[in-house]
Amino acid sequence: QGTVRYEAENAVISRGVAESNHAGFSGTGFVNYDNAAGSYVQWTVNAAAAGPVSLRLRYANGTSTGRPMDVSVNGTTAAAGVAFNGTGAWTTWQTRTLTVDLNAGTNTIRATATTSGGGPNVDYIEVQR
Ligand code: GCU
Repeated sequence: QGTVRYEAENAVISRGVAESNHAGFSGTGFVNYDNAAGSYVQWTVNAAAAGPVSLRLRYANGTSTGRPMDVSVNGTTAAAGVAFNGTGAWTTWQTRTLTVDLNAGTNTIRATATTSGGGPNVDYIEVQR
């Protein structure tokens, strides 16, 4: 029970970079995904028990074009093409909440960009049970 935050800048980053030039992030920064499909951030998340959790992802998209991503858990797509539409500015952060199932113990959660724009800037995920 409770909420645990996992910063994107501390996660595994494939084709992206941790940056801190747009205010409002938590921790030491956020991840700027490369503008490419397939770029991803992958978090390792521990769960005390198997079952559904609320997964909250905080992001900013200063463009007017969506930056959809697939969210996978332990290598299986849990939510495909989740919309991360423009937030108005790179300093305007919003959250999106999904429900995903975790295993007991260690899990990987990956958010992969599906279009050539890459992902939005991602601040963190929170897992709430
Ligand atoms: C700008 C912005 C970055 C962002 C990038 C993008 O360069 O400063 O933070 O990641 O656009 O379009 O992805």
